[in-house]
Amino acid sequence: MNISDMPRLRFAQLPTPLEEAANLSKFLGGPRILFKRDDLTASALGGNKVRKLEFILGRAVAEGYDTLIVPGGYQSNMARITASLANKLGLNIELVLGGAPEEVINHNGNLLLEHLLGANITYVNTVPRWDFGTTLEDLKKKLQAKGLKPYLLPLGGSSPEGMAGYVEATLELKEQCLLQSIKPDRLFVAIGSGGTYSGLLLGALNIDVGYQITGVSVSRTREYLLEKVPENVEHGASLLGMKSFNADHTLSIYDDYVGDSYGAITDDCRKAIQLVARTEGVFLDPVYSGKCMAGMIDLIRKGAISSKETVIFLHTGGWPALFAYEDELFQSSETKQYLRKSTGS
Ligand SMILES: Cc1ncc(COP(=O)(O)O)c(C=O)c1O
Repeated sequence: MNISDMPRLRFAQLPTPLEEAANLSKFLGGPRILFKRDDLTASALGGNKVRKLEFILGRAVAEGYDTLIVPGGYQSNMARITASLANKLGLNIELVLGGAPEEVINHNGNLLLEHLLGANITYVNTVPRWDFGTTLEDLKKKLQAKGLKPYLLPLGGSSPEGMAGYVEATLELKEQCLLQSIKPDRLFVAIGSGGTYSGLLLGALNIDVGYQITGVSVSRTREYLLEKVPENVEHGASLLGMKSFNADHTLSIYDDYVGDSYGAITDDCRKAIQLVARTEGVFLDPVYSGKCMAGMIDLIRKGAISSKETVIFLHTGGWPALFAYEDELFQSSETKQYLRKSTGS
């Protein structure tokens, strides 16, 4: 199916800006760095999920579903954005949020917004992390028994429909680069469920963009992603009638920046968030874009990315989660030390 024939709802304010990050670039001693600001897709405080949801909810609405079930982590951005769009569309919203038993549920950040949006929330221990057991299917049956028509969204919006959003983003970025005479060598993106990276890759395989896409995983292992991404691309290509992956294509994926686990902030992530805020005045998030930026900075410092390159960093949003990380972000900052000194505590 051609993308233009797919059911789509328009939520995002597009194109998102492509901005020079000259101060960051200077601080790091090159390369030229630009931010593609998908944190500014606007709907429900923005983020990469908005582009995916235009197609995913387009299909759900076209097929007459009246209830959305969204699985995710406790600070899921997907859950926040889908809950907001569900309200706009007049659909029921059920969030099923999972995490390890020892994880503390912080009701600030995305969760606070989901409460304000009035979403029904079910909390579940998921071990292994993304294994929701029978919870999702059980909930679906319960809702069906009430006469509702529930639509179970793919984790992270990573489905062939969701990928269509990032094939479209590839076209948008190509046009911006042409207009601004930018020839990017590399595009950096955080990888969670992998749909954004896979959609961008499918875009790059079909649209002449000339950049390599480097993904920084925030949860899954490289080994897992090297199998999963080609599978995703294959499914996306078959839905959209596009050219798929071939075996010679090498994927640029790193899993060295995850830290202890998904969602557990690392020291380098904290430093990356501070650096970008202090050089560019832009907020990254502690779960995805902060870790991706930590990876990009490390690769620049190691010389794996030359100062002659032009690099685009896809800012995928997620900053509302910052407010659930007050202890981790504030505690070690100079401000806290200053406060401690001045109060004598
Ligand atoms: C802010 C943010 N960045 C990046 C990602 C990763 O996207 P994907 O799941 O498509 O790999 C997510 C996914 O939850 C996200 O919320």
